[in-house]
Amino acid sequence: MTTTDIPSQRSTPVGHGSMPRKEDERFLRGHGRYVDDITLPGMLYGAVLRSPHAHARIVSLDTSAAQAHPKVRAVITGRTLEGLNLAWMPTLSHDVQAVLATDKVRFQGQEVAFVVAEDRYAARDALELIDVEYEPLTPVVDATRALDDDAPVIRDDVEGRTDNRVFDWETGDAAATDAVFASADVVATQDMLYPRVHPAPMETCGAVADMDPVTGKLTVWTTTQAPHAHRTLYALVAGLPEHKIRVISPDIGGGFGNKVGIYPGYVCAVVSSIVTGKPVKWVEDRSENLMSTSFARDYHMHGEIAATRDGTILGLRVKVLADHGAFNGTAQPSKFPAGFFGVFTGSYDLRAAHCRVTGVYTNKAPGGVAYACSFRITEAVYLVERMVDVLARELDMDPAELRMRNLLRPEQFPYRSSTGWEYDSGDYPRALRTALEMAHYDELREEQRQRRERGELMGIGVSFFTEAVGAGPRKHMDIMGLGMADGAELRVHPTGKAVLRLSVQTQGQGHETTFAQIVAEELGIPPEDIDVVHGDTDQTPYGLGTYGSRSTPVSGAAAAVVARKVRERARLVASAMLEVDPDDLEWEKGRFFVTGDPTSGKTIAEIAMAAHSDLELPEGVEGHLDAETVYNPPNLTYPFGAYVCVVDVDPDTAQVKVRDFVAVDDCGVRINPMIVEGQIHGGLADGIGMALMQVMAFDSDGNHLGGSFMDYLLPTTMECPSWRLGQTVTPSPHHPIGAKGVGESATVGSPAAVINAVVDALKPYGVRHVDMPATPAVVWRAMQGRPLRT
Ligand code: CDP
Repeated sequence: MTTTDIPSQRSTPVGHGSMPRKEDERFLRGHGRYVDDITLPGMLYGAVLRSPHAHARIVSLDTSAAQAHPKVRAVITGRTLEGLNLAWMPTLSHDVQAVLATDKVRFQGQEVAFVVAEDRYAARDALELIDVEYEPLTPVVDATRALDDDAPVIRDDVEGRTDNRVFDWETGDAAATDAVFASADVVATQDMLYPRVHPAPMETCGAVADMDPVTGKLTVWTTTQAPHAHRTLYALVAGLPEHKIRVISPDIGGGFGNKVGIYPGYVCAVVSSIVTGKPVKWVEDRSENLMSTSFARDYHMHGEIAATRDGTILGLRVKVLADHGAFNGTAQPSKFPAGFFGVFTGSYDLRAAHCRVTGVYTNKAPGGVAYACSFRITEAVYLVERMVDVLARELDMDPAELRMRNLLRPEQFPYRSSTGWEYDSGDYPRALRTALEMAHYDELREEQRQRRERGELMGIGVSFFTEAVGAGPRKHMDIMGLGMADGAELRVHPTGKAVLRLSVQTQGQGHETTFAQIVAEELGIPPEDIDVVHGDTDQTPYGLGTYGSRSTPVSGAAAAVVARKVRERARLVASAMLEVDPDDLEWEKGRFFVTGDPTSGKTIAEIAMAAHSDLELPEGVEGHLDAETVYNPPNLTYPFGAYVCVVDVDPDTAQVKVRDFVAVDDCGVRINPMIVEGQIHGGLADGIGMALMQVMAFDSDGNHLGGSFMDYLLPTTMECPSWRLGQTVTPSPHHPIGAKGVGESATVGSPAAVINAVVDALKPYGVRHVDMPATPAVVWRAMQGRPLRT
C-alpha cells in the first residue's frame, strides 16, 4: 500500500475507538494552562479604551492625566501607531481595520487607546483619565439602510468611497434558474434573517507579548486557532522576520471561530512590549469579547423555491444582504466573499439554482466568522431547510416525505451541484429513514393530531444538511493568499515511542487523543505512546489552523499519510534486519514479517531501535524513523445528517420547550466515537441557543444590547433535552482513512430543525415563518391576531 492509498471502505471506528481523552487528566485536575495563566517576570498589563459611540468623529484625545498616573508605563493611541505605520492592520478578507482609531470610531466598543500599567487594576483605572472629545455622527445600524443613497459613508478612510457596499457576488446560472421558475407549477417565497450571533467561548481573547531586546525575538502567547497564520500576519505587519517571531497557543478555552482573527488588543500588546521593553499581558473581559470581537451570521435572506405540483423540487433563487459590520473582518478563502454559501442547494437534486449576495458595512463590530460552521454553510443550510418546509406547507405535503422524494440518491455520488460543488459521497435516504424511525415519526404525527384537537401546540421539525468541510484544496482555497495545506511531522524514537507535530490547534476537540489514534492505527504503536505536539510555531510545521471542521479532513489525513511514510521506511529497515527483499515483507498491525513465516516478525519498536543503531541500511536509506509531509486535500469532505426535533409551545406563555431531539450524523469513518458524540452534543446545544435564545441586538443609535451573559443567553442543560444520537457511515472516498469533519455539523443542522418544529407547532395559527431567536416574545407576537385553526 502506498502512503495515499485509501484502505478498504471500512465502517468501523479506527483502533482504540472511544478511548478516554488523553488531555482530560490535565483539564480535570485543573492543570490546563491558558493565556491568562502565563505570568512572566516584570510583566505589565494592558487595557483598552473603547468608544461609547457607534459612529463619531474623534475631535481630540488627551492622555496626559493617564500618563501621569503613578503606575502607568505607557499610553498608546492611534497617533502613536500611525508613527509606526501600524494604525491600520489587514483583515482576513483583504480589507483593513483600525488597530486604534485615528479619524473616527465606527462601532460601539471600537478600540481607541491602550494603557499599559504595573497591574490590571491601575490600567483599567487609568482608562478613565483619558479625555476623548467625540462629534457624534448618524450611525448605520440597519443593513437594508446601508445601501440608501443618503446613507452616511462609514468607510470614508478609503479614498473615493461613496457607499457602504463591501461586495456583490453571485453563483449559479441565473438564466437557467429563471427558466425553471417560469415552468414551475408552484413557487413559494420567504424572507428570513439569520441573526447576528456570537461564538462566545468560555475563555475570552488575550495575549502575552514578550519582545526580547537582546535576541530581538518576539514571543506571543495568544488565544489563536491558527498560530502559523498569525505569525505570518505579525511578520507582515511588523516587518519582523518570521523566525524572530514565536506564536504559542497554549490551552484554549473554546474557539468556535472567535479566535481565528487578529484583534487590535493583540497588536497593542506586541507594540507595548516593544515600547516598554517588558512583557505585556492583555486579556479582555466578557463584555469586550461580546461587543468587539468577531460576530457570526447576520444574513438577511430572500428565498424562492420552485416545484412541480406533485412535489419535485426544481430550483432555488436566493438574494442575500450580508451585514459585515464596520470592517470586513470575515475569515474565508479569498475566492469566496460569501464563504461556502454556494452550497445553498443543500441535499437535493435541483435543475438550477442561483444566488446573489451583497455585503454591506454597518456601524457594528467587524467579523463574520464561521462560528461553528464551515464558512457560511450554517446560513445556507438554514435557508434551504426552511424553504423546503415552506414549500411543504404550500403543497400541503408532509415535510419529511417531501425531503425523501428530493434527496440525492447514493448512485448520484460523486455529485456535482448546480453551483459547482462536488459532493464526495453519501447515502442520504438511509440517514433520513434512520432518523424518522428513531423519532417514531408516524406516531409523533398521530400524537400531534390528537393534541391539536385539545388545543395543545406540539411541533415536529425535520432538517437534512450537507456540509462541505476540510478547506481546502490549495488551488481554490486560501486565507490571505496562504494556501490551506497542512504539514505533519512524525518522529519515532529509538524505544518505539512517537511524537506527532501538527499545525492545527485544538480548542477542546480532543486532538491529542484522536490524532494519536490515527498514527496508532497506522503503525501499531499504542496511542498512549504517541505525543501530539501543536500550538507552538517553533515546534510544529506550517499549516493554517483549526476552524471550519478542517482538522480531521486536512491534518487528520496528513497524520495518516506521514505515518504511512514512516511505515514504508520501517519496511526498508526491517528488510535489512531480516536480510530479505522489502517486497518479501508483509505488514501486520505493529510489525513486519517475512511472507510465509509469521514468526520471523520485527515490531515497530525493534525496527525503531535498529534504525538508530549501527545496522547497515540499504543504499539510499538514511537512519532514524522519521517522516514529514504536507497534505493538500483533493476535495472537501461532505458530512451530512438528518435531524428531528419535537417541541411543545405553551399557548399561554409562548415558551418553546424542546422535548426530544434525534440526530443522525454521517461523518464517514469515526476515529473516536465518544469524541464525535461530544462534538454533536455541543453543536445541538449551540443550535438550540441560536434558534431560541440568542441575538446580538442593537438599538437605533447602534448601542450594543447584548454585552453580558444576562442579555446574550447561552443554553444550559435546562433548555436541552437528552439528545438521542444515531449514525450512518459513508466513508469519504478521497480521505486516507475515510473520515469527514464533524465538529460543526450539529450547529449547522440543528437550528432549522428547531425552527421548523416551532413553525409546525404554530400551524393552527396559520403561522408560516418565525425568525430566530424564537423567544417567547417572538412566538407570542407570531400568534397574536391570528385565529386558532384546529
Ligand atoms: O477542526 P475541528 O477539530 O474543529 O473539527 P473536526 O476535524 O471535525 O474534529 C473534531 C473532533 O472529532 C476531533 O477530535 C476529531 O479527530 C474527531 N473526529 C473523529 O473522531 N472522527 C471523525 N470522523 C471526525 C472527527
